Amino acid sequence: MPSSIQKLPESFESLRLLIRVPRPGDGIMLFEAINESHERLKAWFPWAQELTGLDERELFVRQCYCKYLLNEDMPLALFLKETGVLVGGSGLHYRDSHVPSFEIGYWLRSGYEGKGLMSEAVQAITCFAFEVAGANRVYIRCDMDNLRSQAVALRAGYVYEGRMRNSERKADSGDLTDMLFYGMTRSDYEKGNQK
Ligand SMILES: CC(C)(COP(=O)(O)OP(=O)(O)OC[C@H]1O[C@@H](n2cnc3c(N)ncnc32)[C@H](O)[C@@H]1OP(=O)(O)O)[C@@H](O)C(=O)NCCC(=O)NCCS
Repeated sequence: MPSSIQKLPESFESLRLLIRVPRPGDGIMLFEAINESHERLKAWFPWAQELTGLDERELFVRQCYCKYLLNEDMPLALFLKETGVLVGGSGLHYRDSHVPSFEIGYWLRSGYEGKGLMSEAVQAITCFAFEVAGANRVYIRCDMDNLRSQAVALRAGYVYEGRMRNSERKADSGDLTDMLFYGMTRSDYEKGNQK
């Protein structure tokens, strides 16, 4: 990733959200959020197939923080500013340092869908990627059946770029599936694609 990555701040804000790298001590909040959301998340994420314990979640947030410090990745947790509740997870994942390009992934805690929170988060993370992290390209990859995820990408101003047929397996059933790609280039961003 860009050599300046060490200087990236570990948190930033949108209107309603504090968006920051998970830290030691966040394991309990993540544990609770994932436990509440498990049935929904299982459909889309291999990591959500089995519920894991509090210790594993705490270990995970420590690994997230280490990866951020080591310049390997930028996992992100989303907190509602008004209440401090952890309402979801995301990440500005480093994909190609030569471009540089990044992938954004995301999930919302049950009870927090339908409020525009993820579109707001993706817009803020996209802005961070281009303005602070020096991205030339950011993309979002969605399962062909994940209509809510596709809607987030489009709402945030990403352009549908294409479909990779049978490129992955469904997280729950293991069936082959197609992935849809939504991208934003620096020139899209500068032209104001981002809503
Ligand atoms: C994908 C996921 C994050 C999308 O959540 P979402 O709530 O649909 O997306 P947003 O937070 O952007 O909210 C958009 C909805 O809020 C509504 N909304 C309300 N206030 C809004 C506002 N201020 N701004 C934008 N939308 C608003 C929109 O109309 C939309 O509602 P609709 O779905 O009825 O059209 C969520 O479904 C999820 O966690 N899914 C499981 C994990 C997953 O699939 N992750 C993606 C893997 S690629």
